[in-house]
Amino acid sequence: MVALEARELTKCYLPSVPAVRDLSFCLAEGQVLGFVGPNGSGKSTTMKMLTGLLQPTHGQVLWCGAAIQRDLLQYRKRLGYVPEEPDLYPFLTGWEYLELVGTLRGLPRKSLTAKIDALLALFSLAPHRHSAVASYSRGMRQRIVLIASLLHDPSLLILDEPLSGLDVTSAMIVKDLIKTLGERGKAILYCSHVLEVVEKVCSHIIVLRKRRTLAYGHPSELMKSAGQSSLEHAFAHLVEGGDAAQAARDIAAVMSSV
Ligand SMILES: Nc1ncnc2c1ncn2[C@@H]1O[C@H](COP(=O)(O)OP(=O)(O)OP(=O)(O)O)[C@@H](O)[C@H]1O
Ligand SMILES: [Mg+2]
Repeated sequence: MVALEARELTKCYLPSVPAVRDLSFCLAEGQVLGFVGPNGSGKSTTMKMLTGLLQPTHGQVLWCGAAIQRDLLQYRKRLGYVPEEPDLYPFLTGWEYLELVGTLRGLPRKSLTAKIDALLALFSLAPHRHSAVASYSRGMRQRIVLIASLLHDPSLLILDEPLSGLDVTSAMIVKDLIKTLGERGKAILYCSHVLEVVEKVCSHIIVLRKRRTLAYGHPSELMKSAGQSSLEHAFAHLVEGGDAAQAARDIAAVMSSV
């Protein structure tokens, strides 16, 4: 069943300069949809429109067939969001931050406390739970943001570079978690530049280029149609990424020039 639908989404930050243009797609329950594209292709702008944080210039976002604006509060209760650049309150401890999020989400006190303790332990943050977020490393902050997005057991997860800054073990856990949650019927939108992970966890992929959809399909279909054996190569082929090795040699040559 279709959970989320983006219908002809367009966003112009500046008049007549679209950051996203006429973007349409559906996300079904149990689907993990990878969202990939070069820097500036409009991925994060799309994510923000899908959360209701950014108003589209044209087009609509629908949740279970109804425009999200009709009942944004109810929609957000079903949504977990990991933003590209999360803002945390640095003076709160990790525990206090999660307590604040859970309370604002209306979770009952007893189960909230138990959930926070369990998730902090599972994300290896238990020893740091009473330290201020300001003292956390980049990856520790990312783990707190991930926990905050999961606390209320959302039906829809919008993840903008969720592995950003995570160590190897945490990244492995989150990758497996995305797969598990998809198998349990959650609708998941996963935006990343790490194509090896996208290839492993996503059931479908949208490739954006110049603010529009360039390709859509199952990872294996995209690789087959591009005649490539990995998603990374298929992506480079699709977006005409050029010769990375040659670009690297050119940069090194410029650096050493006198
Ligand atoms: N707040 C803003 N004001 C003006 N222009 C913006 C704003 N945010 C994004 N843009 C522009 O919109 C376009 C798409 O940006 P966006 O951040 O959505 O790209 P992205 O695909 O997420 O890129 P990245 O891979 O670097 O995260 C870019 O040209 C960017 O300069
Ligand atoms: Mg982005």
